Amino acid sequence: MPSVLLTGGTGYIGSHTCVELMAAGWTPILLDNLCNSSASVLDRIEAITGRKPAFVRADLRDAAAIDRAFTEFPVCIFTRSTIQEHDNREEMLG
Ligand SMILES: NC(=O)c1ccc[n+]([C@@H]2O[C@H](COP(=O)([O-])OP(=O)(O)OC[C@H]3O[C@@H](n4cnc5c(N)ncnc54)[C@H](O)[C@@H]3O)[C@@H](O)[C@H]2O)c1
Repeated sequence: MPSVLLTGGTGYIGSHTCVELMAAGWTPILLDNLCNSSASVLDRIEAITGRKPAFVRADLRDAAAIDRAFTEFPVCIFTRSTIQEHDNREEMLG
């Protein structure tokens, strides 16, 4: 199955989405700056699924970091799940 980049991936919706995607055979890559979550979520996902997903600590507003993530991982689907303060596209992209 192809990879999926889950932004806000260690957050509430991102982590639950990750577990469901893994159960369905997908390979999620979690991207998060951990401003409102913890990397310990990765251990909890591993406890549930038996596999620890790939994790990129990066801020969505950091274009170079996002470029690196796309270069490192063969991602085909991009989802967005970040906190409400960043729901405004202009603000998110700086
Ligand atoms: N939880 C709900 O019931 C619910 C319901 C409807 C809509 N939503 C919306 O879904 C989105 C996610 O909700 P959630 O409950 O998972 O929130 P959450 O705070 O648990 O998860 C958001 C994640 O995004 C990360 N993040 C924030 N800004 C970032 C940035 N600039 N770069 C990288 N990572 C960043 C945070 O560290 C966090 O892990 C929000 O927009 C929320 O408004 C949530």
